Formats: sequence, structure tokens, C-alpha cells
Amino acid sequence: MKKPVNIPKAEGRLGVLLPGMGAVGTTFIAGCLLARKGLAEPIGSVTQMGTIRLGKRTDGRSPKIQDFVSLAKLDDLVFGGWDLFPVNAYEAAQTAEVLKREHLDAIKDELEAIRAMPAVFFPEFVKRLRGENVKTQTNKMELGEAVREDIRNFKQTNKLDRCVAVWCGSTEVYREPSDVHQSLSAFEQGLRDSSPDISPSQVYAWACLKEGIPYANGAPHLTTDTAAMLELARETRTPVCGKDFKTGQTLMKTLLAPGFRARMLGIRGWFSTNILGNRDGEVLDDPDSFKSKEVSKLGVLETILQPELHPKLYGDMYHKVRINYYPPRGDQKEGWDNIDIFGWLGYPMQVKIDFLCRDSILAAPLVLDLALFMDLAKRAEMSGIQEWLSFYFKAPITAPGLYPENDLFVQLVKMKNMLRWMNDEELITHLGHEYYD
Ligand SMILES: NC(=O)c1ccc[n+]([C@@H]2O[C@H](COP(=O)([O-])OP(=O)(O)OC[C@H]3O[C@@H](n4cnc5c(N)ncnc54)[C@H](O)[C@@H]3O)[C@@H](O)[C@H]2O)c1
Repeated sequence: MKKPVNIPKAEGRLGVLLPGMGAVGTTFIAGCLLARKGLAEPIGSVTQMGTIRLGKRTDGRSPKIQDFVSLAKLDDLVFGGWDLFPVNAYEAAQTAEVLKREHLDAIKDELEAIRAMPAVFFPEFVKRLRGENVKTQTNKMELGEAVREDIRNFKQTNKLDRCVAVWCGSTEVYREPSDVHQSLSAFEQGLRDSSPDISPSQVYAWACLKEGIPYANGAPHLTTDTAAMLELARETRTPVCGKDFKTGQTLMKTLLAPGFRARMLGIRGWFSTNILGNRDGEVLDDPDSFKSKEVSKLGVLETILQPELHPKLYGDMYHKVRINYYPPRGDQKEGWDNIDIFGWLGYPMQVKIDFLCRDSILAAPLVLDLALFMDLAKRAEMSGIQEWLSFYFKAPITAPGLYPENDLFVQLVKMKNMLRWMNDEELITHLGHEYYD
């Protein structure tokens, strides 16, 4: 990768476009609005709260990340999005039932001003939802062009200097890449022909990349991880990353698994199940959407534990993941893990986790960080897959032939070293206690 020089400063206004204004999207927007008024803290956001050590341990230099690299300020963010329900962000946040009334009412006017633009939606890709705020064009190329027009209008109306997009929409059904995904020309022909293999998220991503807008995928389905989209990203010099925000149960998994592996403790089985009752849970109740999620959730242990290197410890591991839609819990998911491990001489032990988490509270800061870092990547002219942002994803996209790095701590080192490298600081490639910072 070419080293960025003279990265332009993050001056002016940055538009953050969200395909999907549901629980995660509105919790993100509301959190940014509350934080910039000083009414709440942006906890969980590395760009807002994180520091970065520079030089030797004895140098005592650990600036905040946002003082080390030039990132857009919360005050400079302008929010927009699409949804198949004709709501504004205040109504959508109320439906999501994540944030308290007192929080939402403090920013009611700003939230109400953010109205969902009509969506690109094909019901066969999200079987459990139907909404009326949907674009009327039937040809997929026309739909893509309509999204491009939305983006240009949004930029112009809000006098924006730059934009980024983060998919916060529902998880689409599982699909493998097909012929239309093999090259940009095949994909654009597929759009003209309204190929059934092209999903709504791919239409949004195509429109964003055409406009040179960085695109992060917060869901596990197939979008920018195809040859066609990567060709377009290269052509328009646009960064992409994904997929599937790393929150909740998988976050716990990628915290614990590196520890077991570091101590050469074996694992016989890892059973994960959870209950959640939000709209995301309802969508994932459909087996085809769940399949996208399952593939993304199952992949993480394999690359962390590397059973091919340690067959005696992990060669025989049984890994099972379940998601159960249970409306009474809303966004307040409960996730249980039972881990059957074994130690010295093969003696068995068990670890049990009961994580009472709040899905969107964990995901919202990730949307903020991704928006700001993707904007940085674009200004630094770093196009294509941004592997240094793997930290945020369950199933990081990698260049063909590479396996993803899923260990959260390795991902953190990678991300901070990228920031050091961009700013001509010495890389820190250590072990020991600095490993975590
Ligand atoms: N919350 C988490 O911890 C977490 C973690 C990883 C991934 N995710 C993913 O993030 C996404 C958002 O999660 P959520 O809890 O906000 O879900 P949600 O159901 O509350 O919101 C998704 C919204 O997307 C809209 N939508 C669906 N298809 C659309 C389209 N084609 N165009 C525009 N809007 C569309 C839906 O109407 C809905 O309002 C999901 O895909 C979820 O799997 C969430």
C-alpha cells in the first residue's frame, strides 16, 4: 500500500448516510446528537475516548486518537438515511425502544428533521418485512441511479464536503456470489437486466461507490465482498469494509478464544445461544437471513484457534450458534455461552457466560468510529478493502486468498499501527503489557 502523504484535514461537514434507520441507526444518530450537546458520553467509541501510545514506554506520549489523526468532529456530522418505513428518526427511535424518552426528547427537533428517504427494497431478500416507503422504479439500474440522485441532493441541500455510508439495514438472505458479481461490467449489465441475484444492499453500495462514497457493511450479507464491487472501489478510489458489527456474543468470543489459545487450553465444544426481541431478531427468525448471520458468527473461532496447527486442542471442537426471536426482551438481548474446555492431561472444565447486553448500545459507537475512520481512509486515498478496520467486524473482508484476523487484540494492534504508519510514527510491534494499548 502506498504511504499516504499530506492527508487533507477533516474540514467542513461530513454526511453520514445510513441505509436502514432502525435500532442501531437511530441509537447512533441520537447518541451523536446527545454527545455533542454534552448530555451524554460517547462511551465505547475508540475515536472519541481512545488513546494511542507513541514512541517508547518511557516517552509518556499517549494522545487521544482524535488529537493524533484528523477526524471529523461530532459537530460537523450531518445524518441521513433510507428506510422502508416512512418515519423520521424520532419515530424510528421510539419504535426501537432502545433509548429512554428523556434522552430522545432532549433532541426531538433534530431527530424529527431526519426523515427516511424511500428505500430500495426487494422482499425476497428480507422476507419478514414489508413497508410502503419504497422507491417505485422497477429496473435495478434506475433504482441505483435514484439512490445516486438522493446522495447528490443530500450533499447539496446540507452543503456537505464529504459523505460516508454505513449499512444499518436488516440482514439479507444468504447468497453466494454469482456470475453478475464477477466483474463490474457484468454487474452493471445485471443492473440493467434487473438480475434476481442483485440485492438491495448491492444497489446502495454500487450507488455509493459510483459517487466515491466509502461504504461499510454492518450486516453479514454479501455486498462489497465481490470482485465487481472491489473493481468499482478501485476505479473510484473508494474505501470499503465489513462485515457484520462485532458486538455482543461474538465480541465475548473474540475476547475469550485468544486467551484459551494463548494458554494452549483445549476446547471440546462451544455452544452459544441467545434471545432477542427487536426487529433484527424478527428478521433473523427467517432461516435464510439467519444463515448469513450463522456463517459470519461461526467463522471467528476457526481463524483464532487454527485447529490445523493445533489438532489435539481444537481439531475436534463442536461449535454451535443459535438465535431465538423472543419479543418480550426487545433490544435487551441475553446471550448464553457454554464452553467445554480441557487442560493438563486432558481434564475437563466448563466456562459459562450469561451476557445481558444491549445490542444497539454496543453497535452505535462502532457506526461512529467506522464513519470517521472511513472518511479518514478516503482523505488518505486508501481505496479498496480496509483490513485495518477488522476490529469492528465479525467477518472481516480480506483480500482474496488471505484469512481474516479475528483476534480482537491483534486487530487493535493492527488498527493503531495503521494510524501510527499514516502519521509517520514508529510502529509498535511488541508483546508485553503494551500489547493491549
Ligand atoms: N445491534 C447489533 O449488535 C448488531 C450487531 C451486528 C450486526 N447488526 C446488524 O445491523 C443491522 C441493523 O440492526 P438493527 O438492530 O438496527 O435492526 P432493525 O431491524 O432495528 O433496523 C434495520 C432497519 O433496516 C430497514 N431496512 C431493511 N431493508 C432495507 C433496505 N433495503 N433499505 C432501507 N432500509 C432497510 C428496516 O426497515 C429496519 O428499520 C442488522 O442487519 C443487524 O443484523 C447488528
